[in-house]
Amino acid sequence: MFNIIITENYDQVSTEAFMIMKKTMKLENPVLGLATGSSPIGLYKKMIADRNTNGTSYRNAVTYNLDEYIGLPRYHDQSYWTFMHENLFDGLNIPEVNIHIPRGDAEDIEEECRRYEEELQNTVIDLQILGIGSDGHIGFNEPGTPFDSLTHVAELTQQTRADNARFFDDDIEKVPAKAITMGLATILRANQIIVLATGANKADAVYGMIKGPKKEICPASILQGHGNVTVIVDRAAAARL
Ligand code: GLP
Repeated sequence: MFNIIITENYDQVSTEAFMIMKKTMKLENPVLGLATGSSPIGLYKKMIADRNTNGTSYRNAVTYNLDEYIGLPRYHDQSYWTFMHENLFDGLNIPEVNIHIPRGDAEDIEEECRRYEEELQNTVIDLQILGIGSDGHIGFNEPGTPFDSLTHVAELTQQTRADNARFFDDDIEKVPAKAITMGLATILRANQIIVLATGANKADAVYGMIKGPKKEICPASILQGHGNVTVIVDRAAAARL
């Protein structure tokens, strides 16, 4: 079920992902599902370089982000809104109205989850970019998240908070404990998915996603049931395959 591409390094992972992105960008109105984290940054850099050197226009693209921390103001330096603008949107020409990121600072978070899910049910994501957590999470769907989950409030595990503490002065207490995330069933509706992973600390998660049982203990294993997933990894992340 998985198309697996094993490369030598992070830059090659980004190049392979960019080649798939280029194809999607040929659609008239490409709908992109986007992720945060260090894994897609190289891809985003290549998209910006493509616009700058080749004049590729992203004006017709529509984007939906996977997740957002709850409790951080939108313009907080570690919000995913800020991350996406700094690492991608500020370098492209996607109209701001085409950019969709759930609001982790909404007054009524449950209502925000419903609103975001409804928007997503009214569209089809052509290409969903995913990273993978070292515990096998995708978006913020942590181990044990039901496979039929829609956009919802997720509690971050200690491991995820520890992994992300590097962005919060290495202080785990500063990492938000909750996030809004697309659910696993939401993610699975995308037409095409690419998963990016590099480094030895992803090897277990990559193994669990591809070779492990399709069980909720490894959220990414739900992708075994999708017909068009490309996993792009370096040798370290592929070590257990
Ligand atoms: C974060 C994000 C995920 C991301 C994952 C891996 O917690 N919510 O969307 O894929 O962790 O991040 P990284 O790519 O930095 O390893």
